[in-house]
Amino acid sequence: MDGWRLRVVSVLICVYLLAGSAAKAQLAPAATKPFDLINWNGGKFIYGADYYPEAWPESLWEKDAIMMQEAGINFVRMGEFAWVKMEPQEGHFDFAWLDRALKVLNAHGIKAVLGTPTASPPAWLYAKYPDIAVMDANGVRYRYGSRRNYCLHNQEFRAATARIVSAMAKHYKDHPGVIGWQIDNELSDPKCYDPVSQAAFQAWCQRKYHTLDALNAAWGTIFWGHTYESWQEIPLPWNTLFNTYNPSLVLDFDRFQSDSTHDYLDFQTTILRKIAPHQAITENEMGMFQETNWYDLNRSLDFVAWDNYPMMYKDLTQYSVAGLAHDVMRGSKDNQNYMMMEEEGGVGGWATFIGHQSPAALYRVWDYQSVAHGADGICYFRWRTSRYGTEQYWEGILDQDSYRNSRYFMVQQTGKELQQLTPLLHGSSIVSPVALLNSPDSRWALQNQPGVDDFQYDQQLQDYYDAFRRGGVNVDVAFPPSDLSAYRIVVAPALYVSDQALVDKLNAYVMNGGTLILTFRSGVKDEHNVVTDRTLPGPFAGLAGVAIHEFDPQLNEEQEIVGLGETLFPTRCWSDILEPTTAKVLATYGKGYYAGNPALTENEVGKGRVYYVGTESKSPLFYDRLIALAARKSLVALNNKIPAGVEVSVRQRGGKKIIFVMNYTGTAQTVPLEQAYKNALTDKTEPMEVQIPAYDVKVLTE
Ligand code: GLA
Repeated sequence: MDGWRLRVVSVLICVYLLAGSAAKAQLAPAATKPFDLINWNGGKFIYGADYYPEAWPESLWEKDAIMMQEAGINFVRMGEFAWVKMEPQEGHFDFAWLDRALKVLNAHGIKAVLGTPTASPPAWLYAKYPDIAVMDANGVRYRYGSRRNYCLHNQEFRAATARIVSAMAKHYKDHPGVIGWQIDNELSDPKCYDPVSQAAFQAWCQRKYHTLDALNAAWGTIFWGHTYESWQEIPLPWNTLFNTYNPSLVLDFDRFQSDSTHDYLDFQTTILRKIAPHQAITENEMGMFQETNWYDLNRSLDFVAWDNYPMMYKDLTQYSVAGLAHDVMRGSKDNQNYMMMEEEGGVGGWATFIGHQSPAALYRVWDYQSVAHGADGICYFRWRTSRYGTEQYWEGILDQDSYRNSRYFMVQQTGKELQQLTPLLHGSSIVSPVALLNSPDSRWALQNQPGVDDFQYDQQLQDYYDAFRRGGVNVDVAFPPSDLSAYRIVVAPALYVSDQALVDKLNAYVMNGGTLILTFRSGVKDEHNVVTDRTLPGPFAGLAGVAIHEFDPQLNEEQEIVGLGETLFPTRCWSDILEPTTAKVLATYGKGYYAGNPALTENEVGKGRVYYVGTESKSPLFYDRLIALAARKSLVALNNKIPAGVEVSVRQRGGKKIIFVMNYTGTAQTVPLEQAYKNALTDKTEPMEVQIPAYDVKVLTE
């Protein structure tokens, strides 16, 4: 690096070091009292649509507001892609059009959350500051177009952000029709690999490790002689020959990216809180797309909101894929209720459709699923399908012709029902006996080094999650900082990266009587993504009562295991060959040179027990059997009569249950429950064997 560049980079490092510590000091403390979304919306269930008045003739706005009101809509999200309309030239603002749109909507009882428009900066900003655009791992800057094309570390972009966010906040801080803010839109990647980002990463490393010796030791840079003698030598995981990377560097880069995203969010929330302290702040997040650590990020928000598109799942009766995403989002803010900022309003796609059109009735079932998992508000994406641009195929409630179609009437019916249910729902929350541990570090580390090509961290979570859901059991998703003590069962799949605090927490949990399920690839790495020098499963070997001296990555081969009722289960992906030290064997491998060796064990330890699962099964029955065993020992009640494609999920208020029975299939189903309940919508008592029509829902109370 030549002299002037080195100086620029050093200055940037100092700025970033200061900025970083300042940002940390401004972090909002974790909320102690859950945010009450229903009170926030004046006692009504939030029911809305994402609306883009800037893209439709003003003569249509009044008609839209009337149709919205008739459909029960009382909320809109607006503005998140309208930067150029609000700031057509640098420093010149025009909010008159948005004021008029708000006036029309407010007159029909519709309040708004405004999106800060930073996900789509104006063309003039790129023309003036081309380095705002992201540089890819090959060192090529993307050109203008698309959206989310901004570098989180670019100071010109920060300045432009501050200008538009401050102007919006000043203009709308006392507006009675604006109740809050959405930061940006789906904050997350892309990662930027330009020199400014490299300097920011180096500064982040300096803050974390303090000395180069500590960093070199933590990352094991002695390998291939990649030892750094100055902070400026630290690279990014950009394109290298043979695509080789130090996994420790890569994991820290992922954490850095997540922290930078958080820092950028804080940059905006700080401005908003200062200027508009009475308006709430959220962000529309993305469920299972977890490039950002949602748990960290959400410390800065009043409540969680997220974007749900179940059409992406191949089989629409596989309700638990969306279910898991709901629970990840709820868990990311310690199980506080949340809202849907984009609930699927129709089939969608960009160049090609990515799902099948669903019957309108099924959209209603997904709405109820959101509520059943803790949503106190639903806002559909979008009011009407765009006539323009990339999303001409992404349907809103209405199509471009504004015809009152079947989805519109579904929205109307659902809205009416949800307002009727609001007194019952208000103040209720989710209580679960089981937690699934979602480790961002393990996820990121395994994305970089999956071990076998078809290893999927999400699949590990999903297999266990599905088994509990088939049994009608609510599941919380915990993150490493979450309190685990109240759960009867904790499943921690593929806990590949862990630090001592997490090891101690799981240890204490089991010693105090908890049931823990650990799976293959657990305890492999320390917090620096360095492989343990202890016998696997490393820090969990004592707890699990097993030693692993040999494992078999299943490269396109398949195994089988025998056990849990002497049944044979097909397995795949990985085989840990277990040697029990104190554990008892529940299943053994069926094939190959290690046939007869243990694959699944149970270890009674302290007041609790640990199951260690050495492989992944292709058979749901395997998970059902294992979960049934763990549930019996942990006194968790399962309902094994719930038909496939039907979900039973529970909210609670004051110890009383609100039970949602949701049928995602196209045929009528019978769902036996443990007692007769009252239907909350009709007030009639339902039989114990609840009859539920195709694509329908029943909400039951005690
Ligand atoms: C995301 C975005 C929306 C829209 C939809 C559909 O959820 O937040 O702006 O683009 O996808 O593509």
